[in-house]
Amino acid sequence: MSAFDEIDLETGLIDGRAVADSVQRSVGAEAARFAAEQGRQPGLGTLLVGEDPASAIYIRMKHRASEQLGIASIHRTLPEGASQEDVLRVTRELVDRDDVDGVLVQMPLPAGLDPEPVILAVPPEKDVDGFHPFNLGAIASGLHGVASCTPAGVMTLLDAYGVELAGAEAVVVGRSRTVGMPLALLLLQRNATVTVTHLLTRDLAAATRRADVLIAAAGSPGLITADMVKPGAVVIDIGTTRTEAGLRGDVDFDAVREVASLVSPVPGGVGPMTIATLLRSTVELAWARAEGVTTGR
Ligand code: GUN
Repeated sequence: MSAFDEIDLETGLIDGRAVADSVQRSVGAEAARFAAEQGRQPGLGTLLVGEDPASAIYIRMKHRASEQLGIASIHRTLPEGASQEDVLRVTRELVDRDDVDGVLVQMPLPAGLDPEPVILAVPPEKDVDGFHPFNLGAIASGLHGVASCTPAGVMTLLDAYGVELAGAEAVVVGRSRTVGMPLALLLLQRNATVTVTHLLTRDLAAATRRADVLIAAAGSPGLITADMVKPGAVVIDIGTTRTEAGLRGDVDFDAVREVASLVSPVPGGVGPMTIATLLRSTVELAWARAEGVTTGR
């Protein structure tokens, strides 16, 4: 049984849009309850530096979705040539606002800017991205921390489809600080047996063929072929690479679909969950701040 009434568990396909819609409805209800009790909307502050068109689209989508759900958007932009000091100053201005509960600085920053001091400038209690080492460390310690949006969204998808994690072999392809690493920690928290693979893994196929739950987050289109998948496995594709043929995932979808029991498409799988999870985290941070709860508990 799934907690999400509107998804069809029989298609072999993970419908990220349906799950994201369901999450957004509950976030909208929570945002309304927050506003009624606290006398203000939860607030999301964002900073976009430079003119990268894909980043500008993501930011617009985030703001449109937050406004639809009753979350206030406070948006700042800086030009391509902004200095490190400019970025830190505007980040801190967002952090210091009382009406901002979560701060997101869109990554990647333009070349020449160092993301590390910017990540550290957003304190854990307003770190809606879960990028601060404190939040990653809280998750590694089994404590409550903000998990970054894409990994947390993947966990919601797995739960929506009733995927059994305790004792399962979970293999993560990719170890990025924002996706692969936090996802491995979240899977471990749920008692999966987790293997993290990466570019230097000698025999990737030997590792992936063991997986009951295979999660591809390498950013390498078509990397996961059908012969790398155990029959009946659940395959989640986080890779999204823009190619001339459109958006492509890490998984050779048509062939893998024949082998896997459940597979997430690109687009329409993990992607829609990221924004839904960001908005959910914004409302959670708003409640935590209103109630004086600290992260790491
Ligand atoms: N760029 C692509 N995805 C993300 C994300 O989840 N957060 C931030 N801050 N930047 C991104």
